[in-house]
Amino acid sequence: MNETVLDIRDVSLTFKGKRGVLDVVAGRPSRDVNALNGVSLELHRGETLGVVGESGCGKSTLARCIVRLYKPKDGEIRFNDADIFAAGEPRDRSYNRRVQMMFQDPYSSLNPRMTTGQILKEALLVHRMCDEAEVPARLERLMDLVQLPHDALEKLPHEFSGGQRQRIAIARALAVEPEVLIADELVSALDVSVQAQIVNLLLELQERLGLTILFVAHDLRLVRHVSNRVAVIYLGRIVEIGDSETLFARPMHPYSQALLSAAPSLDPDDKGKKIHLEGELPSPMDIPPGCPFHVRCRHKTTKCTTDLPLLRAFEGRGSVACHHAEEIENA
Ligand SMILES: Nc1ncnc2c1ncn2[C@@H]1O[C@H](COP(=O)(O)OP(=O)(O)OP(=O)(O)O)[C@@H](O)[C@H]1O
Ligand code: SF4
Ligand SMILES: [Mg+2]
Repeated sequence: MNETVLDIRDVSLTFKGKRGVLDVVAGRPSRDVNALNGVSLELHRGETLGVVGESGCGKSTLARCIVRLYKPKDGEIRFNDADIFAAGEPRDRSYNRRVQMMFQDPYSSLNPRMTTGQILKEALLVHRMCDEAEVPARLERLMDLVQLPHDALEKLPHEFSGGQRQRIAIARALAVEPEVLIADELVSALDVSVQAQIVNLLLELQERLGLTILFVAHDLRLVRHVSNRVAVIYLGRIVEIGDSETLFARPMHPYSQALLSAAPSLDPDDKGKKIHLEGELPSPMDIPPGCPFHVRCRHKTTKCTTDLPLLRAFEGRGSVACHHAEEIENA
């Protein structure tokens, strides 16, 4: 039985859109940016769940809601069955420790005037992970975990390469012994060879420490490599979620099919039919009615233009939000 660590239920979030000069002149009010529109997903203990979707679909907004940088307008996020936004002070601190976010650019999140040792020591002491006397031994163990030499503790962030800085960001997250890591484009800024090293380190650490990971990335090959399950997000909604290998091999939702076919294949001999995405991604200020994908979908029917499809479970295949998933599958 899969144990649910994080349960995201019907989460919506709207940003106030900026008013352009023309809006101001015409006296038009600002329009809402509907970044998340009823996202539901469960994160199971010990898994890596990949989240994929075009730029602007709400991946980072979702990640930021999970670590409480944003509060959803509607819906609920439960951690070990407790509402993370209803928590009182003691639980607040424990949640911040147990669910750690790692960002794409650790340079901006690592204090440039503090050495690695100082950065990690601060994390240890803020969360009361150990006594002062135990700190040096803990720091060395953290360096061992992320495979950096111990003298890295004396250095400042600018003295490291991008990949090494990402190792320090991982060490900082691990310092507080989290249960869940949220990795938002963790390796996107790194060279491909370095990406592989960092991702493999993350997988190794996950196995050793029993971590649960939400892995957000543009690179579908990377997501396939690291994820047990994958969620495909489109305009702030999950349109398909399921076992990674099955979903990558046989995506069911027309959006997943187009997204995956537009990505470079893992197999150099793959002469698979390319579907490619047609049309522009609609603005989150102007989400189409019915199925939000209908303006780009070659399978759409009249029903698709009026009725919002909900996620439906398919035996052995995960869940798909499409009115015509069965017919498309059998076509
Ligand atoms: N702080 C903000 N204020 C206003 N709008 C925002 C804010 N943050 C995000 N948005 C908008 O919300 C939508 C979702 O953005 P988000 O950053 O979550 O997308 P994403 O899937 O992470 O994209 P990318 O792949 O480019 O990182 C976009 O339309 C974005 O412009
Ligand atoms: S519900 Fe209709 S428009 Fe939406 S993905 Fe399915 S077939 Fe296409
Ligand atoms: Mg993002």
